[in-house]
Amino acid sequence: MKKRIILLIPLIMLIAVVSGFSQENITQLYDSAFKSHQRPPAAFQHDRHNEQAKIFDCGVCHHVYEKGKKVDGATSEDRKCSECHYKDDDMSLASAYHNRCKGCHSEKKAGPILCGECHKK
Ligand code: HEC
Ligand code: HEC
Ligand code: HEC
Ligand code: HEC
Repeated sequence: MKKRIILLIPLIMLIAVVSGFSQENITQLYDSAFKSHQRPPAAFQHDRHNEQAKIFDCGVCHHVYEKGKKVDGATSEDRKCSECHYKDDDMSLASAYHNRCKGCHSEKKAGPILCGECHKK
C-alpha cells in the first residue's frame, strides 16, 4: 500500500507538469464548442506565436472582466473562450475569436487577415 502511494506521487507530479504546460502543444484551434465547423482549423502555434508577436501579458487573450471592465493583471487561462463566449449560436464565439485575432493583426498591421491564411487546409 505504502509503495503504491510513493509511486503515485511522481505520476501525479508528471501529470500536473504536462497539463500545466499543455499550451505548448497547441498548434491550431478547432473549438469543439462549435455545433459545426465550416472552415478548417485555424493555425495557431500558441507559444511560438506569442513570442514572435511579443505578447507577454497572458490577459491580452485570457482576460477577466468585472462589471464590464477588463481587470488589469488578472488572467483566465484555466477557462475556455467558449465558457464565456458561446451564446446559443456559433456566431458569438466565432466573432470573439475573430475580433481578438484579426483585431490585433489589423491594428498592428502584422499577422494574417485573410480567411485562408488562418483556416488552412
Ligand atoms: C494571442 C492570444 C493568446 C495569448 C497571448 C495567450 N494565450 Fe493561452 N490560449 C489562447 C487560446 C485561443 C487558447 C485556446 C482556448 C480555448 O480552447 O478555449 C489558449 C489556451 C491556453 C491554455 C489551455 C491549454 C489546453 O491545452 O487546454 C493554457 C494553459 C494557456 N493558454 C496559457 C497561457 C499563458 C500562461 C499565457 C501567457 C504566457 C497565454 N496562454 C497567452 C490564446 C492565447
Ligand atoms: C471568464 C470569462 C471569459 C473568458 C474565459 C474569455 N472571455 Fe472574452 N470577454 C468576457 C467578457 C465578460 C467580456 C466583455 C463583455 C463582452 O463584450 O462580451 C469579454 C470580451 C471579449 C472581447 C471583446 C468584445 C468582442 O466580442 O469583441 C473579445 C474579442 C473576447 N472577449 C475574446 C475572447 C477570447 C478569444 C477568449 C479566449 C482566449 C476569451 N475572450 C475568454 C469574458 C471572458
Ligand atoms: C495582441 C496581438 C495579437 C493577437 C491577439 C493575436 N495575434 Fe496573431 N500575430 C500577431 C503579430 C504581431 C503577428 C506577426 C508576428 C511576426 O512578426 O511573425 C501574428 C502572426 C500570426 C500568424 C502567422 C505567424 C504564425 O505564427 O504562424 C498566425 C497564424 C496568427 N497570428 C494567428 C492568430 C490567432 C489564431 C489569434 C487568435 C487566437 C491571434 N493570432 C491573435 C499579433 C496578435
Ligand atoms: C487570424 C486568424 C483568422 C482569420 C484571418 C479568420 N479566422 Fe475564422 N476563426 C479563427 C479562429 C481562431 C476560429 C475558432 C477556432 C475554430 O475554427 O474552431 C475561427 C472560427 C471561424 C468559424 C466558426 C467555426 C467554423 O469552422 O465554422 C467560421 C465560420 C470562420 N472562422 C470563418 C472565417 C472566414 C469566412 C474568414 C475570412 C473572412 C475567417 N474565418 C478568417 C481564426 C481566423
